[in-house]
Amino acid sequence: MHRVSVFGLGPVGLVTAVCIAHAGNSVVGIDPDVQRVRIINDGEAPFYEPSLREYLKEVLKKRSFSATDNSVENAKSDVAFITVGTPGARDGSINLEYVKSAAESIGHSLRARHGYQLVLIKSTVIPGTNRQLVKPLIEKESGKVLGRDFGVCSNPEFLHEGNAVYDCDSPDRIIIGGETHEVEVAEKFYSELYGKNLPALVRTNSETAELIKYANNSFLAVKVSYINMFANLCQEIPGADVEDIAKGIGLDKRIGSMFLRAGLGWGGSCFPKDLRAIASFGKRINVPTSLVDAAISLNEQQPLKAIELAEKLVGNLTGKRVAVLGLAFKPDTDDLREAVSIPIVRDLLEKGAIVVAYDPTAIDNAKTIFGNRIEYAKDSVTCLDQSDCCIIATEWNEFKTIAPETFLNKMRMPAIVDGRRIYDPPRFMRAGIKFAAIGLGQ
Ligand code: UGA
Repeated sequence: MHRVSVFGLGPVGLVTAVCIAHAGNSVVGIDPDVQRVRIINDGEAPFYEPSLREYLKEVLKKRSFSATDNSVENAKSDVAFITVGTPGARDGSINLEYVKSAAESIGHSLRARHGYQLVLIKSTVIPGTNRQLVKPLIEKESGKVLGRDFGVCSNPEFLHEGNAVYDCDSPDRIIIGGETHEVEVAEKFYSELYGKNLPALVRTNSETAELIKYANNSFLAVKVSYINMFANLCQEIPGADVEDIAKGIGLDKRIGSMFLRAGLGWGGSCFPKDLRAIASFGKRINVPTSLVDAAISLNEQQPLKAIELAEKLVGNLTGKRVAVLGLAFKPDTDDLREAVSIPIVRDLLEKGAIVVAYDPTAIDNAKTIFGNRIEYAKDSVTCLDQSDCCIIATEWNEFKTIAPETFLNKMRMPAIVDGRRIYDPPRFMRAGIKFAAIGLGQ
């Protein structure tokens, strides 16, 4: 059994902490936000993530996990994780303020520690952060010797929201970047954590490990933008369908079928921030990142395809009542950060449309963004009431089962823009609904 501290109890940190405790270790979660600490200790997750609440309740009951705002607790741990956020700065570069303060707190608490501590950086950070910032800060604050008293590995995470608990329990691979000894300590920790389920390990230096995270997210985002580019081409060719293109190329084992769902673009707290950060880093060291730049610019335009299609179906949007189904950046989360619904709603409002929106989990978060400029419906069917057009912005499962008859009965003028390709176009068109979809040429 290990004693583990986790610095930063956001979506990555809390899931990591709770999963490691669930696997039989003793974990303390450290976060300066007293309110957040209280909520977590009461057994509530401060954000929606499937299975997290159940896990949290279990580990609190077993006393294998607790949260605190007191970073001195870290002195008792043999492993410390840094899982704080690395938000984007105005120029697209990353803000390392929270990483810095976590490193300082770790350093400070290590003064009271006897014995080695391994620090694992899970936060997404630009190459050089571990070597040039975290290690020197911990050394300075602790008065300890790097390599003898502590080690710091870059150990990026690949949890995706909505599936984070599963990803943490069953990762595809583990990346460990650092010097030989610290990498060995990390490897031993993970071998004990996952036992016979230990996935493939990639051992490398810290800069490469830091870059792997950006390479991973950039690749996935470029892949989505790539299929979106073909979706846009399909839309101009009568009868062409991007769904068949995704199927056709996805069966090529070299390409693979995942992340080929065409839609209104990628969002969330990771892809947009990470692509901007790597583009800004490339600029700083004079290396063009043109593929990433192209994906960013394509993605900025993609949400507006929804408006284009809505105008095609119902004409001028001024005074029209538009139902937006789905606000979260993807299903199974209440996260609205950089969600495509934001530019869509803003554009609809600018065009004078009346917007009524529904999302199974994200309404409270949406209210902080749109306030009373839009209406919020209590469920999807009510959302459609007397509307002139419906835009599917997030592919929640519960929207997939809405029958064409429901749209016909509830809407004033049944017209659907399927921005996430959840419906069978012939079925909806046969029912007499005006229907348009991303990547469907008509
Ligand atoms: C992403 C990565 O998938 C994780 O591996 C990574 O750990 C995480 O970022 C992070 O950096 O912390 P996440 O942002 O939770 O995870 O969401 P994804 O499931 O990757 O989706 C990102 C966006 O791409 C969403 O807006 C989604 O709707 C969109 N997407 C995804 C598509 O439009 N089409 C697809 O086929 C797949």
